[in-house]
Amino acid sequence: MTVPTLLLLVLLCFDVIGGGRASRLERWESAIRMPTQKDEAEDVDGELGTRWAVLVAGSSGYGNYRHQLLRKGGLKEENIVVFMYDDIANNELNPRPGIIINHPQGDDLYAGVPKDYTGELVTAENLYAVLLGKKDAVKGGSGKVVDSKPNDRIFLYYSDHGGPGVLGMPNMPFLYAMDFIEVLKKKHASGTYKEMVLYIEACESGSIFEGIMPQDLNVYVTTASNAQESSFGTYCPGMEPSPPPEYITCLGDLYSVAWMEDSETHNLKKETVKQQFQSVKERTSNFNNYNIGSHVMEYGNGSIKAEKLYLYQGFDPATMNFPPNTLNNGLP
Ligand SMILES: *[C@@H]1O[C@H](CO)[C@@H](O)[C@H](O)[C@H]1NC(C)=O
Repeated sequence: MTVPTLLLLVLLCFDVIGGGRASRLERWESAIRMPTQKDEAEDVDGELGTRWAVLVAGSSGYGNYRHQLLRKGGLKEENIVVFMYDDIANNELNPRPGIIINHPQGDDLYAGVPKDYTGELVTAENLYAVLLGKKDAVKGGSGKVVDSKPNDRIFLYYSDHGGPGVLGMPNMPFLYAMDFIEVLKKKHASGTYKEMVLYIEACESGSIFEGIMPQDLNVYVTTASNAQESSFGTYCPGMEPSPPPEYITCLGDLYSVAWMEDSETHNLKKETVKQQFQSVKERTSNFNNYNIGSHVMEYGNGSIKAEKLYLYQGFDPATMNFPPNTLNNGLP
């Protein structure tokens, strides 16, 4: 492994001197599957409620895939809120202008990307207002908020730079651990959701929750790394498989790619949150070789892990005949 290649692998840490901007081209986003109306139609008992998703990224790309799934599954647009800095596709360093891929053979993920809050509107303040369902407090953008009800479930995916105790929103101030947990407590106190699952990819992402995340908020969190370490890229130059030759950057982030590819290839009505956690943990550790890999961590209420993933990430009928991921099944 040459030194220049190694430099490309640590993607999500703050570049303290450059403010993180220089490395932002290395942020590539990906696909996410969303709840479908079909699932709601099957909800004869009314037990499921509405599912909400909040996607936060310093870059973009997963949105188009979301739209493809929306067309297939009929998800209601108003239940998904997208924060996206939107500076990747047309960045002068992007070898394929206007196109974003997150796999060496991947298709474009950028066309038709949905944008609720972009550019300078991607702020911690707006994220808090969106999560708390405070329409009046949101500044700019589509104005969409998580207007959830007591029986609803919420899935939040965050991917960007991080550092000890902070997540790097593209615009200052950062998202601070204590503020974020305060927002989760407020949301819980408002009684406006049943359960929440958070997937957080950033360097030192464990530090947002380590030692301070309560277990009684009906929130389950997994993070790409522990409180002290970097999280890493994947499909980087020099790796196998590597990106197309014109790319000088990694195409994806290991934890994000791990859960998204796991979701794409399994039946999420059969796979549990726990099964995905185990498979993501394994892949993100670089198969227990922590060189270019990190420790996936979990916080909050672990009982939620027993639930099926479709309650949070939806269900693509095309995966009907796929198995759940049973890696480590039955092991503690
Ligand atoms: C954790 O979640 C389960 C399932 O929703 C719930 O029954 C339990 O009371 C929760 N635990 C705490 C400490 O809130």
